[in-house]
Amino acid sequence: MIETVPVALGTRSYDVKLAAGLLSEAGAHIAPLLKRPKVAIVSDAHVASLHLDALTKSLDAQGISHSNLSLPQGESTKSWAHLQDVVHWLLSEQIERADVVIAFGGGVIGDLVGFAASILRRGVRFVQIPTSLLAQVDSSVGGKTGINAPHGKNLIGAFHQPSLVLADISVLGTLTERDFLAGYGEVAKYGLLGDAAFFDWLEANGPALAAGDEALRLAAVKHSVAMKAGIVSRDETEQGERALLNLGHTFCHALEAATGYSDRLLHGEGVAIGCALAFETSARLG
Ligand code: GLY
Repeated sequence: MIETVPVALGTRSYDVKLAAGLLSEAGAHIAPLLKRPKVAIVSDAHVASLHLDALTKSLDAQGISHSNLSLPQGESTKSWAHLQDVVHWLLSEQIERADVVIAFGGGVIGDLVGFAASILRRGVRFVQIPTSLLAQVDSSVGGKTGINAPHGKNLIGAFHQPSLVLADISVLGTLTERDFLAGYGEVAKYGLLGDAAFFDWLEANGPALAAGDEALRLAAVKHSVAMKAGIVSRDETEQGERALLNLGHTFCHALEAATGYSDRLLHGEGVAIGCALAFETSARLG
């Protein structure tokens, strides 16, 4: 069964659809958005090697033509150089203003490709197909897109909402334990930032969820996305309440800068450590 969480943003509203095995139906969900049967997919090499076939089969089944650009995995891909590669590739693929670009990967791909879509021909639509836990519960929803600068993380970007988010819970089964647990840092964040009952639920169900229970994973992702959708629909451009979603992120960004945006510290790990440091700081401040 497909779960749907609406993100209410007036004319820019969209749905987040969640289910195990959703990738095999992605084409059917994307087809109604298209003015012509053509999409461009930007992925990372690792995700493409694991899941691109399933996505392209679902597009083929709908008669949608597709081309793919695969980028290197990792935070350093959120750069001017790769933004230029993506934009130039989309232009060479003759992606027009009415076309749709697909961001197929984790948070790095979603942020980079969303930003490319926001500036290509003054803005084209894009679909997020997040493949990491972190991207499914946080970065694919809400329209924050961008790249990193030498001055700090995510300092160059735009608010550009996707037209659809498709979260296939089954692909989480191919994450390394480290990547899954890093994403879990963002899930725990939702419990800490204002939902004690969810935090208790995570305390009870976290081990089974981490061990691979798809029903529990779906429940956790859906709850997180619903919390985020509510916050984003009330404060899209972070004038107030949305800043709650940055819990632990100030420490996190400092730690990521200190480790050179490298695999030494994954973003979700930084969030988990950052939440603990924020807690410690709050306690010290009384
Ligand atoms: N990841 C924080 C936000 O979307 O506002």
